[in-house]
Amino acid sequence: MRPARPAVLVARHIFPEISARLAAHFDVEANDQPVDWPRDELLRRLQGKAGAFISSTEPIDAALLDACPGLRALCTMTVGYNNIDVAACTARGVVVTNAPDVLTETTADFGFALMMATARRITESEHFLRAGRWQRWSYDMFVGADVHGATLGILGMGRIGQAIARRGALGFGMPVIYHNRSRLAPEVEAPLGARWVEKAELLRHADHLVIVVPYSASSHHAIGAAELALMKPSATLTNIARGGVVDDAALAVALAERRIAAAGLDVFEGEPQVHPALLNLPNVVLTPHIASATAATRMKMALLAADNLIAVLGGKPPLTPVN
Ligand code: DGY
Repeated sequence: MRPARPAVLVARHIFPEISARLAAHFDVEANDQPVDWPRDELLRRLQGKAGAFISSTEPIDAALLDACPGLRALCTMTVGYNNIDVAACTARGVVVTNAPDVLTETTADFGFALMMATARRITESEHFLRAGRWQRWSYDMFVGADVHGATLGILGMGRIGQAIARRGALGFGMPVIYHNRSRLAPEVEAPLGARWVEKAELLRHADHLVIVVPYSASSHHAIGAAELALMKPSATLTNIARGGVVDDAALAVALAERRIAAAGLDVFEGEPQVHPALLNLPNVVLTPHIASATAATRMKMALLAADNLIAVLGGKPPLTPVN
């Protein structure tokens, strides 16, 4: 008789190839619908499971872990893991893995594109055209801000922040300033001409501010009314980090009052809900958390999570451990 295989839960609707890969190793129960399971259903389905394939939308806390004592591995296909109480997992011997590196360049491409769309008013002008409002060319129609040569400010200089800095410095001749808990090594800063500055200086001098800092209690509302007040009225702000890093209500006020020029947002507090004031503003580009969404990259992210699950439940070290 074949020995019993570990049971795993795939909490997200995911590529069939990934489910098939997991099914070669485990007894798989998978979410085969594009729906988010409510917490009680997630908890019920996790019963008897040794591991779970998750994403950034399944909240994992101590109470859930206590209700699922068989869990040994939680593998998210995202790089961000602020939905997981990692300390509670560690205390209960549950291995947590995430999906770094595989999405860095794709996410940086999108961050840069969103910043450019924001600076050059691409979606606002497209809406104008689609609405049939384009009558004539005019010297001041949708004038925006230059990206090339402008000062790129980056809040959070991890892998994705550095990839955005590369695009700005090497592709668009942008002077780069950044704020991060720790300063990069001089040999990392030098090719980018990147300069560490205090947060207030970053806010005061950036022409285009891109936010890439991970969400945590300490980065909650890192950009609120006081911080926005330090920015130039001509500046743009792009958030590809997490909703909650920016105070969306304060941002909507700053945009409405033109205290900053424009914003590009891929992430929102309480997403998929979006602050209603943002929806009514012309000077904000809004996208539904798609910075890592290319077919190739999403496949790599999912594959990494699956391979982490296979490694950990197979008694091997995780490929990309969080704890
Ligand atoms: C990530 O990987 O953290 C992306 O934001 C998708 O949630």
